[in-house]
Parts: sequence; structure tokens; C-alpha cells
Amino acid sequence: MSVYSNPVLRLITEEEDRQISMQLSITVFVNEQKYPLERIVDDEYNDNSDVWIAYCEKKMEDGTVQNDVPVGTVRYIDISEDVCRLGRLVVLSEARGLSLGRKLVDIVIQEAANRGKTTMFIHAQANKRGFYEKFGFVVEEGDDTIFHVDGDPHYRMWIRNIGKK
Ligand SMILES: CC(C)(COP(=O)(O)OP(=O)(O)OC[C@H]1O[C@@H](n2cnc3c(N)ncnc32)[C@H](O)[C@@H]1OP(=O)(O)O)[C@@H](O)C(=O)NCCC(=O)NCCS
Repeated sequence: MSVYSNPVLRLITEEEDRQISMQLSITVFVNEQKYPLERIVDDEYNDNSDVWIAYCEKKMEDGTVQNDVPVGTVRYIDISEDVCRLGRLVVLSEARGLSLGRKLVDIVIQEAANRGKTTMFIHAQANKRGFYEKFGFVVEEGDDTIFHVDGDPHYRMWIRNIGKK
């Protein structure tokens, strides 16, 4: 059995939860992937987005179980009446491969559907293209140029049929 189990996703409501999400982003994007800290902390959407955190039970080495351990996060940004954006998706390295990334993306797509959005886009790290394609995101013709964020190649990817399937 994995060290992590029984995931629960919660929409944050308190400022301290926003800090938990920020810390998860820093752990993965800054400490692991080496993006500059400013990329994460100086961002126009930090206070202007809806954020979910995935919590798990964690089985410790001594056999005890720690509850409510934050292991992943994602955010939803309203762009216009029809369009929204998914971003800041992270799952801690030790909790990957447990479908938490899938759950976090699914909940944001569901939120978009609930709000009547048709279209969602992301700026995806190029080596995550295959991950996002599993949800129906595509790189569109004419929009398939790789661009760089802090030297790291990215694609813009779209879903345009939310709520229409
Ligand atoms: C990308 C990330 C969120 C995936 O999280 P995860 O919890 O390991 O993913 P899941 O277990 O939910 O995987 C869902 C599916 O995607 C696949 N997948 C996972 N990572 C993938 C990748 N890099 N490329 C292609 N497919 C991938 C899994 O095999 C699984 O496939 P399946 O459902 O057909 O079995 C995680 O690797 C991560 O946080 N990476 C570092 C931060 C990052 O790069 N964020 C995205 C920035 S654009």
C-alpha cells in the first residue's frame, strides 16, 4: 500500500490555506524544478484565483497515520465569460502516480462546466503535453509554437467543448 491514501480535495476558503498551496508550489516549481521564486510569489493571480488542495492520510514509518497532509494543488482563473485557465498544478514528488493530478484537473474542468465556461487553456510544460492530452487538451494549429518560461519550453493547450460532450 502507498504511504499516501484516502485523498480529499478541498476548495480553499482561508488565507492560511492559500499559504499551504503557495508552499506546495514553491516545493515543486522552485525547489524541484528550479523556477525563480518570483515567478511563484509575484503573480497577478495569487489573490485572484480559486484554489484546491489535495489532502491525504500519510502512513508514517512508525506505523502511525498523519491526517490531512497537503500533497497537491491546482488553481482556476476566470478569464472571460466563456474562457478560463487552469494553472499551478503540482503533486509532491513522493505522492505522484496515485491519480491525484488527474483528480485535481478533473475538479477544475468540472468547476468550469458548473460556471458555464466552454473553453479552458493552460500553459503546459512541454514534457507534460501527454498528461494534459489525456483530458482533451490540444495544441491548436497556428498556436503550436513552443514558448519559453524562464528558459523552460511550454505549449499553450486548449479545451473548447466543456459541457458539450
Ligand atoms: C504532472 C503531475 C501533476 C502529474 O501528477 P500525478 O498525480 O503523478 O498524475 P496522475 O497519477 O494523476 O496521472 C494521470 C495520468 O497521467 C499520466 N502521466 C503522469 N505524468 C505524465 C507525464 N509527465 N506525461 C504523460 N503522462 C503522464 C499517468 O501515467 C496517468 O495515466 P493513466 O491515467 O492513463 O494511467 C505531477 O507529475 C507534477 O506535479 N509534476 C511537477 C509539476 C508540474 O510539472 N506541473 C505541471 C506544470 S504544466
